[in-house]
Amino acid sequence: MTAVPQIRPVTGAAHSRIHGVGGYRPVRVVPNSEVLEWIDSSDEWIRTRSGITERRWAGPEESVAEMSVQAAGKAIAQAGITADQIGAVIVSTVSHFKQTPAVATEISLKLGCPTAPAFDISAACAGFGYGINLADGMIRGGSAEYVLVIGVERLSDMTDVHDRSTAFIFGDGAGAAVVGPSDTPGIGKVVWGSDATQKDLISQTEAWDTAFAKPDAINGSTGDEARWPALRMDGQPVFRWAVWEMAKVAQQALDAAGVTADQLGAFIPHQANMRITDAMIKALKLPASVPVARDIAETGNTSAASIPLAMERMLQTGEAKSGDLALIIGFGAGLVYAAAVVTLP
Ligand SMILES: CC(C)(COP(=O)(O)OP(=O)(O)OC[C@H]1O[C@@H](n2cnc3c(N)ncnc32)[C@H](O)[C@@H]1OP(=O)(O)O)[C@@H](O)C(=O)NCCC(=O)NCCS
Repeated sequence: MTAVPQIRPVTGAAHSRIHGVGGYRPVRVVPNSEVLEWIDSSDEWIRTRSGITERRWAGPEESVAEMSVQAAGKAIAQAGITADQIGAVIVSTVSHFKQTPAVATEISLKLGCPTAPAFDISAACAGFGYGINLADGMIRGGSAEYVLVIGVERLSDMTDVHDRSTAFIFGDGAGAAVVGPSDTPGIGKVVWGSDATQKDLISQTEAWDTAFAKPDAINGSTGDEARWPALRMDGQPVFRWAVWEMAKVAQQALDAAGVTADQLGAFIPHQANMRITDAMIKALKLPASVPVARDIAETGNTSAASIPLAMERMLQTGEAKSGDLALIIGFGAGLVYAAAVVTLP
């Protein structure tokens, strides 16, 4: 009997880090004054309750794929690689309306890496952190050298402009990061998880198959009555969960990385709501010297895109520096979360 050969072990890079980050912000600015045409509210209420003064909403040409290609192009350029070196494309989105094929394939084709593994994930506002965790594992596990992680949303398509609890919150945009090999650790342990018992706190009002009457060929019905689904949210429990539970998760990410809050060069939380950010700063006892991402003021809540968009802005404005440590934390519908300390590209 011949011996069963041993499978050759797979080896990857010792560590990984983010090599480049890029963002795309739609052209159209939607100020609070425009939101006030749809809901009974005030500019002051929106500013004080959410920190938002304006958001960007995508036009017809600014599709999920197009915005992603723009953001990814910048991330690839900053990483100093070419598209054909991308070993996998991961796209996190909840607002791409074609279920198959994955929008990641359209993006990889447009970028020039059409043979790379390409797939979408659905992890809402934690999507960027989920993607970073997958990329880190793939690079250290030896299944890819460089991984493109994209967070992209057109939440305006899912916003009921007459819903007072959500009409002012959401925005559109794309953010991308190139993750690749590193000699030293550039991504700390990603503390991720979910609380599925609270899965209904933020959700799509209706599933696609019940929102639309399906054509019934046998009985001759063609389908009718579009009831376009929107995002709905129970604001107060979401707020409480984010403030109490997410500060603990952020602390776990710091502890796992062996980093203290005062050693951070930036705090980049998901841009959900400025009051949630402020409460987390307090709970973490973050020193005033640590710069905090406040991109929500001009961008609104762009879910999976919000962390890379905010990261790009902080690096562009000089608020944060390349090589500094940043604490990132995303959280949202699911409820799902992911936090980590990362080295800024
Ligand atoms: C959405 C949110 C801003 C609403 O604030 P809130 O204080 O919980 O609002 P409530 O629904 O309890 O209403 C409080 C008051 O504000 C009023 N109100 C609600 N929406 C309003 C609006 N858009 N404009 C003006 N007033 C509004 C209510 O009528 C109520 O008035 P009353 O006290 O006279 O009855 C808040 O719950 C929140 O920030 N939640 C977290 C949302 C979030 O970050 N989600 C993203 C997670 S990924």
